[in-house]
Amino acid sequence: MKIAVGSDHAGVELKKFVLSWLEKHCYDFEDMGPYSAESVDYPDYGHKVAEAVARGDFDQGILMCGTGIGISIAANKVKGVRAANVCNPEYAALARQHNDANVLAFGARFNDDSSAAKILESWFASEFEGGRHQRRVDKIEFCC
Ligand code: RB5
Repeated sequence: MKIAVGSDHAGVELKKFVLSWLEKHCYDFEDMGPYSAESVDYPDYGHKVAEAVARGDFDQGILMCGTGIGISIAANKVKGVRAANVCNPEYAALARQHNDANVLAFGARFNDDSSAAKILESWFASEFEGGRHQRRVDKIEFCC
């Protein structure tokens, strides 16, 4: 499983924890930036990670900004990406089980290392359930 990880400046500290968590759990990952706390624009990193997932270079992505909102909205503009802005472990599980979300987003202003670890554990422990959820996920791509 290859994971692309990105954030904006508000998420850059929590990203360090996420990278260490992925390393500890033996995931293959790449830090797609930013690499300092200098102010950046979250769409740049949301798009970068989402496009890498959509191309198939990575299986999943993880994104953080202050709230997770802006960066998940940006990621969801990329065809084939289903980014879920998650606020607790239950949301993380359901995003995988029901929505086959392929990008996990969360807010650095509302999570510390401990709550982020719980979200990550839940996300990676959960599998897409398919069945009726597959039909609904398929419909996401088709709108006028
Ligand atoms: C940056 O100040 C902030 O707007 C951003 O991190 C994020 O919360 C946007 O959704």
